[in-house]
Amino acid sequence: MQEFLARTHDKLEQALTVAEVPTRLNDAMRYSTLNGGKRVRALLVYAAGTALDAPLERLDSVAAAIECVHAYSLIHDDLPAMDDDDLRRGKPTTHIQFDEATAILAGDALQTMAFELVACDSSGLDDKQARAITLKLAQASGSCGMVGGQMLDILATNTSLSQAQLENVHRRKTGALINAAVLCGSLCSDDVNAEQLSVLSQYADHLGLAFQVIDDILDIESSTEILGKPSGADIELGKSTYPALLGLAESKELAKNLYDRAIDCVQTISDNSELVQHHKLDGLTNKFSLLYDLATLIVDRKN
Ligand code: IPE
Ligand code: IPE
Ligand code: MG
Ligand code: MG
Ligand code: MG
Repeated sequence: MQEFLARTHDKLEQALTVAEVPTRLNDAMRYSTLNGGKRVRALLVYAAGTALDAPLERLDSVAAAIECVHAYSLIHDDLPAMDDDDLRRGKPTTHIQFDEATAILAGDALQTMAFELVACDSSGLDDKQARAITLKLAQASGSCGMVGGQMLDILATNTSLSQAQLENVHRRKTGALINAAVLCGSLCSDDVNAEQLSVLSQYADHLGLAFQVIDDILDIESSTEILGKPSGADIELGKSTYPALLGLAESKELAKNLYDRAIDCVQTISDNSELVQHHKLDGLTNKFSLLYDLATLIVDRKN
Protein backbone atom coordinates (compact mmCIF):
# COMPACT_ATOMS: atom_id res chain seq x y z
CA MET A 1 0.00 0.00 0.00
CA GLN A 2 2.83 2.41 0.85
CA GLU A 3 4.18 2.25 -2.69
CA PHE A 4 0.75 2.93 -4.19
CA LEU A 5 0.09 5.80 -1.78
CA ALA A 6 3.41 7.36 -2.76
CA ARG A 7 2.65 6.93 -6.48
CA THR A 8 -0.75 8.59 -6.06
CA HIS A 9 0.79 11.45 -4.13
CA ASP A 10 3.50 11.98 -6.78
CA LYS A 11 0.96 11.97 -9.61
CA LEU A 12 -1.28 14.47 -7.84
CA GLU A 13 1.69 16.63 -6.88
CA GLN A 14 2.75 16.71 -10.53
CA ALA A 15 -0.77 17.46 -11.81
CA LEU A 16 -1.19 20.25 -9.25
CA THR A 17 2.02 22.00 -10.20
CA VAL A 18 0.97 24.14 -13.15
CA ALA A 19 2.34 27.66 -13.28
CA GLU A 20 -0.62 29.14 -15.21
CA VAL A 21 -3.22 28.36 -12.52
CA PRO A 22 -4.12 31.38 -10.37
CA THR A 23 -2.19 30.95 -7.12
CA ARG A 24 -5.19 31.10 -4.80
CA LEU A 25 -7.07 28.48 -6.82
CA ASN A 26 -3.99 26.27 -7.03
CA ASP A 27 -3.43 26.59 -3.28
CA ALA A 28 -7.03 25.55 -2.57
CA MET A 29 -6.81 22.59 -4.97
CA ARG A 30 -3.57 21.41 -3.36
CA TYR A 31 -4.95 21.96 0.14
CA SER A 32 -7.94 19.75 -0.63
CA THR A 33 -6.11 16.88 -2.31
CA LEU A 34 -2.69 16.63 -0.66
CA ASN A 35 -3.95 16.87 2.90
CA GLY A 36 -4.03 13.36 4.26
CA GLY A 37 -7.06 11.50 2.99
CA LYS A 38 -6.98 7.73 3.37
CA ARG A 39 -6.83 7.31 -0.42
CA VAL A 40 -9.05 4.24 -0.30
CA ARG A 41 -10.32 4.87 -3.84
CA ALA A 42 -6.83 5.23 -5.29
CA LEU A 43 -5.80 2.01 -3.54
CA LEU A 44 -8.82 0.26 -5.04
CA VAL A 45 -7.66 1.34 -8.51
CA TYR A 46 -4.26 -0.26 -7.87
CA ALA A 47 -5.78 -3.33 -6.21
CA ALA A 48 -8.06 -4.14 -9.13
CA GLY A 49 -5.50 -3.12 -11.75
CA THR A 50 -2.61 -5.14 -10.35
CA ALA A 51 -4.87 -8.17 -9.83
CA LEU A 52 -5.39 -8.08 -13.60
CA ASP A 53 -1.73 -7.33 -14.44
CA ALA A 54 -2.32 -3.76 -15.60
CA PRO A 55 0.92 -1.74 -15.84
CA LEU A 56 1.40 0.52 -12.81
CA GLU A 57 2.05 3.66 -14.88
CA ARG A 58 -1.45 3.40 -16.36
CA LEU A 59 -2.97 3.09 -12.90
CA ASP A 60 -1.26 6.26 -11.67
CA SER A 61 -3.35 8.61 -13.82
CA VAL A 62 -6.57 6.80 -13.03
CA ALA A 63 -5.91 6.65 -9.28
CA ALA A 64 -5.10 10.37 -9.22
CA ALA A 65 -8.20 11.13 -11.31
CA ILE A 66 -10.52 9.29 -8.92
CA GLU A 67 -8.98 11.07 -5.93
CA CYS A 68 -9.56 14.42 -7.68
CA VAL A 69 -13.26 13.65 -8.11
CA HIS A 70 -13.43 12.45 -4.51
CA ALA A 71 -11.68 15.58 -3.17
CA TYR A 72 -14.03 17.78 -5.20
CA SER A 73 -17.03 15.90 -3.79
CA LEU A 74 -15.79 16.51 -0.23
CA ILE A 75 -15.15 20.23 -0.78
CA HIS A 76 -18.69 20.70 -2.06
CA ASP A 77 -20.20 18.32 0.54
CA ASP A 78 -18.74 20.50 3.32
CA LEU A 79 -20.08 23.81 1.96
CA PRO A 80 -22.60 25.76 4.05
CA ALA A 81 -25.31 25.03 1.48
CA MET A 82 -24.74 21.31 1.95
CA ASP A 83 -23.44 19.71 5.17
CA ASP A 84 -21.92 22.93 6.48
CA ASP A 85 -18.90 21.30 8.11
CA ASP A 86 -15.83 23.20 9.26
CA LEU A 87 -13.40 20.32 9.80
CA ARG A 88 -12.09 17.77 7.29
CA ARG A 89 -9.05 15.52 7.61
CA GLY A 90 -8.25 17.25 10.87
CA LYS A 91 -8.01 20.68 9.27
CA PRO A 92 -10.39 23.54 8.43
CA THR A 93 -12.57 22.67 5.44
CA THR A 94 -11.63 24.35 2.18
CA HIS A 95 -14.29 27.10 2.40
CA ILE A 96 -13.14 27.92 5.96
CA GLN A 97 -9.45 27.95 5.09
CA PHE A 98 -10.09 29.98 1.91
CA ASP A 99 -13.63 31.21 1.19
CA GLU A 100 -16.78 29.79 -0.35
CA ALA A 101 -16.17 31.03 -3.88
CA THR A 102 -12.64 29.64 -3.89
CA ALA A 103 -13.89 26.31 -2.51
CA ILE A 104 -16.56 26.00 -5.19
CA LEU A 105 -14.04 26.81 -7.90
CA ALA A 106 -11.41 24.44 -6.50
CA GLY A 107 -14.02 21.67 -6.58
CA ASP A 108 -14.98 22.53 -10.15
CA ALA A 109 -11.35 22.56 -11.26
CA LEU A 110 -10.55 19.26 -9.55
CA GLN A 111 -13.48 17.66 -11.31
CA THR A 112 -12.29 18.69 -14.75
CA MET A 113 -8.68 17.89 -13.84
CA ALA A 114 -9.77 14.28 -13.31
CA PHE A 115 -10.85 13.95 -16.91
CA GLU A 116 -7.75 15.79 -18.12
CA LEU A 117 -5.59 13.25 -16.29
CA VAL A 118 -7.26 10.37 -18.12
CA ALA A 119 -7.23 12.15 -21.50
CA CYS A 120 -3.56 13.17 -21.15
CA ASP A 121 -2.29 9.80 -20.03
CA SER A 122 0.79 8.82 -21.98
CA SER A 123 1.53 5.53 -20.28
CA GLY A 124 -0.04 3.24 -22.82
CA LEU A 125 -3.80 3.37 -22.31
CA ASP A 126 -5.24 2.93 -25.79
CA ASP A 127 -8.08 5.13 -27.03
CA LYS A 128 -10.70 2.48 -26.34
CA GLN A 129 -9.53 2.04 -22.74
CA ALA A 130 -9.34 5.80 -22.16
CA ARG A 131 -12.86 6.23 -23.53
CA ALA A 132 -14.26 3.42 -21.38
CA ILE A 133 -12.58 4.85 -18.26
CA THR A 134 -13.83 8.36 -19.07
CA LEU A 135 -17.38 7.12 -19.50
CA LYS A 136 -17.33 5.07 -16.29
CA LEU A 137 -15.91 7.97 -14.27
CA ALA A 138 -18.37 10.47 -15.76
CA GLN A 139 -21.39 8.26 -15.11
CA ALA A 140 -20.28 7.41 -11.58
CA SER A 141 -19.61 11.05 -10.70
CA GLY A 142 -22.59 12.64 -12.37
CA SER A 143 -26.32 13.03 -12.02
CA CYS A 144 -27.10 9.31 -11.93
CA GLY A 145 -24.16 8.62 -9.61
CA MET A 146 -22.47 10.68 -6.88
CA VAL A 147 -24.09 14.04 -7.63
CA GLY A 148 -27.50 12.39 -7.94
CA GLY A 149 -26.89 10.68 -4.59
CA GLN A 150 -25.95 13.98 -2.98
CA MET A 151 -29.22 15.46 -4.26
CA LEU A 152 -31.19 12.57 -2.76
CA ASP A 153 -29.23 12.93 0.49
CA ILE A 154 -30.22 16.60 0.74
CA LEU A 155 -33.84 15.85 -0.13
CA ALA A 156 -33.93 13.11 2.52
CA THR A 157 -32.90 15.50 5.30
CA ASN A 158 -35.40 15.36 8.18
CA THR A 159 -37.51 12.73 6.44
CA SER A 160 -37.70 9.01 7.01
CA LEU A 161 -36.74 6.78 4.12
CA SER A 162 -37.42 3.10 3.60
CA GLN A 163 -34.36 0.84 3.67
CA ALA A 164 -34.54 0.49 -0.12
CA GLN A 165 -34.58 4.27 -0.54
CA LEU A 166 -31.67 4.76 1.86
CA GLU A 167 -29.68 2.06 0.09
CA ASN A 168 -30.26 3.91 -3.18
CA VAL A 169 -28.92 7.17 -1.68
CA HIS A 170 -25.81 5.47 -0.29
CA ARG A 171 -25.10 3.44 -3.40
CA ARG A 172 -25.17 6.62 -5.45
CA LYS A 173 -23.48 9.18 -3.25
CA THR A 174 -20.64 6.90 -2.15
CA GLY A 175 -20.91 3.51 -3.86
CA ALA A 176 -20.80 4.81 -7.42
CA LEU A 177 -17.30 6.33 -7.15
CA ILE A 178 -15.98 3.27 -5.32
CA ASN A 179 -17.36 1.13 -8.14
CA ALA A 180 -15.68 3.43 -10.67
CA ALA A 181 -12.35 3.10 -8.84
CA VAL A 182 -12.43 -0.68 -9.13
CA LEU A 183 -13.73 -0.77 -12.69
CA CYS A 184 -11.45 1.98 -14.01
CA GLY A 185 -8.48 0.16 -12.47
CA SER A 186 -9.66 -3.06 -14.14
CA LEU A 187 -10.11 -1.32 -17.49
CA CYS A 188 -6.38 -0.44 -17.48
CA SER A 189 -5.65 -4.13 -18.03
CA ASP A 190 -5.14 -5.41 -21.56
CA ASP A 191 -6.82 -8.73 -20.90
CA VAL A 192 -9.74 -8.26 -18.58
CA ASN A 193 -12.83 -10.23 -19.51
CA ALA A 194 -16.52 -9.49 -18.98
CA GLU A 195 -16.86 -12.03 -16.20
CA GLN A 196 -13.98 -10.53 -14.23
CA LEU A 197 -15.46 -7.05 -14.67
CA SER A 198 -18.81 -8.28 -13.44
CA VAL A 199 -17.42 -9.95 -10.31
CA LEU A 200 -15.17 -6.97 -9.52
CA SER A 201 -18.13 -4.65 -9.96
CA GLN A 202 -20.09 -6.71 -7.42
CA TYR A 203 -17.09 -6.61 -5.06
CA ALA A 204 -17.05 -2.82 -5.36
CA ASP A 205 -20.80 -2.47 -4.90
CA HIS A 206 -20.73 -4.44 -1.64
CA LEU A 207 -17.80 -2.39 -0.38
CA GLY A 208 -19.27 0.89 -1.59
CA LEU A 209 -22.43 0.41 0.45
CA ALA A 210 -20.42 -0.94 3.41
CA PHE A 211 -18.20 2.17 3.23
CA GLN A 212 -21.12 4.56 3.78
CA VAL A 213 -22.77 2.34 6.41
CA ILE A 214 -19.49 2.42 8.36
CA ASP A 215 -19.22 6.18 7.80
CA ASP A 216 -22.70 6.56 9.32
CA ILE A 217 -21.71 4.34 12.28
CA LEU A 218 -18.45 6.21 12.88
CA ASP A 219 -20.31 9.52 12.88
CA ILE A 220 -22.02 8.26 16.05
CA GLU A 221 -19.38 6.06 17.68
CA SER A 222 -16.14 7.86 16.98
CA SER A 223 -14.78 11.22 18.12
CA THR A 224 -14.07 14.37 16.15
CA GLU A 225 -10.39 13.93 17.01
CA ILE A 226 -10.16 10.43 15.53
CA LEU A 227 -12.44 11.15 12.56
CA GLY A 228 -10.78 14.44 11.64
CA LYS A 229 -14.32 15.69 10.88
CA PRO A 230 -17.13 16.63 13.26
CA SER A 231 -18.70 13.57 14.89
CA GLY A 232 -22.42 13.65 15.55
CA ALA A 233 -22.95 15.82 12.46
CA ASP A 234 -25.55 13.47 10.92
CA ILE A 235 -27.93 13.61 13.88
CA GLU A 236 -27.51 17.36 14.14
CA LEU A 237 -28.41 17.78 10.47
CA GLY A 238 -31.28 15.26 10.48
CA LYS A 239 -29.53 13.06 7.91
CA SER A 240 -31.01 9.75 6.83
CA THR A 241 -28.48 7.15 7.95
CA TYR A 242 -28.35 3.41 8.57
CA PRO A 243 -28.00 3.69 12.37
CA ALA A 244 -31.00 6.06 12.41
CA LEU A 245 -33.03 3.54 10.41
CA LEU A 246 -31.81 0.19 11.71
CA GLY A 247 -29.92 0.95 14.91
CA LEU A 248 -26.19 0.46 15.48
CA ALA A 249 -26.15 -3.31 16.00
CA GLU A 250 -28.09 -4.10 12.84
CA SER A 251 -26.04 -1.59 10.83
CA LYS A 252 -22.84 -3.32 11.96
CA GLU A 253 -24.29 -6.69 11.03
CA LEU A 254 -25.15 -5.37 7.58
CA ALA A 255 -21.60 -4.04 7.10
CA LYS A 256 -20.18 -7.43 8.09
CA ASN A 257 -22.54 -9.16 5.69
CA LEU A 258 -21.48 -6.87 2.85
CA TYR A 259 -17.84 -7.50 3.75
CA ASP A 260 -18.39 -11.28 3.54
CA ARG A 261 -20.01 -10.89 0.13
CA ALA A 262 -17.12 -8.75 -1.10
CA ILE A 263 -14.63 -11.38 0.09
CA ASP A 264 -16.62 -14.09 -1.74
CA CYS A 265 -16.19 -12.05 -4.93
CA VAL A 266 -12.41 -11.91 -4.52
CA GLN A 267 -12.41 -15.64 -3.86
CA THR A 268 -14.34 -16.18 -7.10
CA ILE A 269 -11.89 -14.06 -9.10
CA SER A 270 -8.85 -15.76 -7.65
CA ASP A 271 -10.36 -19.26 -8.07
CA ASN A 272 -11.09 -18.49 -11.71
CA SER A 273 -7.65 -17.12 -12.44
CA GLU A 274 -5.97 -19.55 -14.81
CA LEU A 275 -2.55 -18.81 -13.42
CA VAL A 276 -3.63 -19.66 -9.91
CA GLN A 277 -5.41 -22.81 -11.08
CA HIS A 278 -2.48 -24.07 -13.07
CA HIS A 279 0.37 -23.22 -10.79
CA LYS A 280 -1.08 -22.81 -7.32
CA LEU A 281 1.85 -20.62 -6.41
CA ASP A 282 1.60 -18.44 -3.34
CA GLY A 283 3.26 -15.59 -5.18
CA LEU A 284 0.50 -15.56 -7.75
CA THR A 285 -2.32 -15.58 -5.27
CA ASN A 286 -0.70 -12.55 -3.64
CA LYS A 287 -1.81 -10.36 -6.46
CA PHE A 288 -5.32 -10.55 -5.03
CA SER A 289 -4.27 -9.77 -1.48
CA LEU A 290 -4.80 -6.01 -1.76
CA LEU A 291 -8.42 -6.60 -2.74
CA TYR A 292 -8.84 -8.62 0.47
CA ASP A 293 -6.92 -6.12 2.58
CA LEU A 294 -8.93 -3.13 1.36
CA ALA A 295 -12.20 -4.88 2.15
CA THR A 296 -10.93 -5.36 5.70
CA LEU A 297 -9.65 -1.79 5.90
CA ILE A 298 -12.98 -0.35 4.77
CA VAL A 299 -14.99 -2.29 7.32
CA ASP A 300 -12.52 -2.16 10.25
CA ARG A 301 -11.40 1.43 9.86
CA LYS A 302 -11.54 3.87 12.75
CA ASN A 303 -11.82 7.05 10.66
C1 IPE B 1 -15.53 10.45 3.12
O1 IPE B 1 -14.71 9.61 2.39
C2 IPE B 1 -16.78 10.70 2.37
C3 IPE B 1 -17.63 9.52 2.21
C4 IPE B 1 -17.94 9.05 1.08
C5 IPE B 1 -18.15 8.88 3.38
P1 IPE B 1 -13.34 9.09 3.01
O2 IPE B 1 -13.58 8.53 4.38
O3 IPE B 1 -12.71 8.17 2.04
O4 IPE B 1 -12.50 10.42 3.13
P2 IPE B 1 -10.93 10.66 3.09
O5 IPE B 1 -10.55 10.81 1.67
O6 IPE B 1 -10.21 9.51 3.75
O7 IPE B 1 -10.75 11.94 3.86
C1 IPE C 1 -20.45 12.12 1.62
O1 IPE C 1 -21.28 11.59 2.56
C2 IPE C 1 -20.64 11.61 0.28
C3 IPE C 1 -19.91 12.45 -0.67
C4 IPE C 1 -19.03 13.37 -0.34
C5 IPE C 1 -20.17 12.25 -2.04
P1 IPE C 1 -21.12 12.29 3.98
O2 IPE C 1 -21.64 13.67 3.97
O3 IPE C 1 -21.62 11.35 5.02
O4 IPE C 1 -19.51 12.34 4.11
P2 IPE C 1 -18.74 12.98 5.34
O5 IPE C 1 -19.24 12.26 6.57
O6 IPE C 1 -19.05 14.44 5.34
O7 IPE C 1 -17.31 12.66 5.05
MG1 MG D 1 -23.03 14.76 2.90
MG1 MG E 1 -20.72 15.42 4.86
MG1 MG F 1 -20.73 11.03 6.90
